[in-house]
Amino acid sequence: MRRAVCPGSFDPVTNGHLDIFGRAASLFDEVVVAVGVNKAKAASSGRLFSSEERMEMLAEAVRPWPNVRVQGFTGLVTDFCREIGAQAIVKGLRGSGDYDYELQMAQMNSHLTEVETVFLMTDPSMSFVSSSLVKEVASFGGDVSGLVPAHVHKLLTERLAERASQA
Ligand code: PNS
Repeated sequence: MRRAVCPGSFDPVTNGHLDIFGRAASLFDEVVVAVGVNKAKAASSGRLFSSEERMEMLAEAVRPWPNVRVQGFTGLVTDFCREIGAQAIVKGLRGSGDYDYELQMAQMNSHLTEVETVFLMTDPSMSFVSSSLVKEVASFGGDVSGLVPAHVHKLLTERLAERASQA
């Protein structure tokens, strides 16, 4: 059984993430989308959605792939890989900014364990998409409907409206 982990915060999941999950699902027997649920980090990082909400959105989004599942994790991603018997971490690379950051993490993870990091080049149509930019653009009323799944777009719009009404 070749198992891969796609780790991230997914606040929220985008179509760019889904492109990577789908391609990973064709390379591995099982793909586990691992959602960082570190509460200390969540509190300080301005997350829009709770870990439960992020995992629910992901579970709906990965439904088309029978070999992709969603699981929360705390602590080191390498420990999580060991716990669930995953041989690889799969990440998408959008460009040189991602590369510099991801190279360092991949090398640290390789120092910590035998887990391999596999990079998939982001589809060019998604190379400008990030959760942060989607949130920023949506918060100013920009159209992000083509960048996230429809159910995520609905929840994102509702959450931003709630936040705006509280401000
Ligand atoms: O979507 P993000 O915010 O880039 O995801 C970050 C995440 C959760 C993948 C990263 O913070 C992570 O792997 N955290 C677990 C802690 C860990 O293993 N840190 C060492 C990485 S070298």
